[in-house]
Formats: sequence, structure tokens, C-alpha cells
Amino acid sequence: MQTRPPRKIEGMIGGSKLRKDELEAWKKLIPLNRKWRILEIGTYCGASSAVIAKERPDCSFFCVDAYPAFKEFKHNKQPNQNLFYGFSSDLMRFFPPRVFHMIFVDGAHDFDGVYADLDISKKLLKRDGVLLAHDYRDALQMAVKPAVDKWCADNDATVEVVAGTVARIRI
Ligand SMILES: C[S@@+](CC[C@H](N)C(=O)[O-])C[C@H]1O[C@@H](n2cnc3c(N)ncnc32)[C@H](O)[C@@H]1O
Repeated sequence: MQTRPPRKIEGMIGGSKLRKDELEAWKKLIPLNRKWRILEIGTYCGASSAVIAKERPDCSFFCVDAYPAFKEFKHNKQPNQNLFYGFSSDLMRFFPPRVFHMIFVDGAHDFDGVYADLDISKKLLKRDGVLLAHDYRDALQMAVKPAVDKWCADNDATVEVVAGTVARIRI
């Protein structure tokens, strides 16, 4: 399947799958002076979260990926950024419920995978936490929007686009 090419970021290798405005929108949703724990489901080279982690050393970033780009992640990694090598479905074994202040869902892009990651996120997210999904309404990722919309309907949640293809889901 065709996917969007990674965007080059100075000082990082491998690049980010997020557009500049999408990355900015993600960053802006992290309140200043709050030590948030942030989970990124699907990190690839870790470059997107590394950009934010660098600017927010007060926050902790947990990046899960079943097939990460190891060399790139190691190069891009910030001190407050950790890689969890495995499937998102394993996360519940390692983290207690309601531990994350923010979750960015960008792992599997098929319908069942996106739906399952939102189920996992609901369990791991604090009650007033921020849930984001990437590639919502992306022409190259046709399954993401239907999966997010169905999950929202099933969970009495609402969805709004905050930038590009980044959607915020309010549970
Ligand atoms: C689009 S990339 C992530 C891009 C990254 N968020 C960024 O901003 O550059 C999707 C990643 O999700 C990973 N992935 C796919 N299914 C997964 C799953 N079930 N569990 C964990 N990682 C998964 C892939 O290995 C891939 O690296």
C-alpha cells in the first residue's frame, strides 16, 4: 500500500510521518508546566516524538512499535523517550490502567488494528487525557476514518480534526 513519505527533520534521521502543522498541533495540546506521560502507538523512527521530547524535557515519552527502525530510533532518541519493542496489544501487560495523560495512535492502519488501538488507549488513558489519532481522513489510509468513526459511535465519543489528518477523540 502507498503511504506518505517521511518528512526530513534537521538533526534526525529517517524522518517523521507527520506534517509540520500536525506535529505542532500535537505539541500544542501538551499544557506547559505539566509533567505528562505520553504514549505514541507506532513510532517508526521516533522522530516525531523526539522533536516534542526535546522541547519538553519535563514530559516522558513511551514509544511502542512492533517493527521500529532501530538504527534511526537510537539516533533520534531523546533522554526522556523510551522504545517499547512489541505490539500495542502487549501494552496492557506492562502499564497499569489510566496511566497516560496523552496517547497518539499511529500504529496499524487497518480497520481492526485502529479500532483495537483505540480500545487499548481508552484503558490506558487518564479520565481527562488527550487521545489523538493520525491519518484520519487521509486519502492513502482509507480504513482509519471508518474505524475511528465506528469506535466513536460505539463508545459515545466525538471526533474533531485538529490539524491535517490529526483527529482528537473526546471520550
Ligand atoms: C505510520 S508509522 C508511525 C509513524 C510515526 N508515528 C511518525 O510520526 O513518524 C506506523 C508504525 O506502526 C507500527 N505498527 C504497526 N502495527 C503495529 C502494532 N500492532 N503494534 C505496534 N506497532 C505497530 C509500524 O511498525 C510502523 O513503524
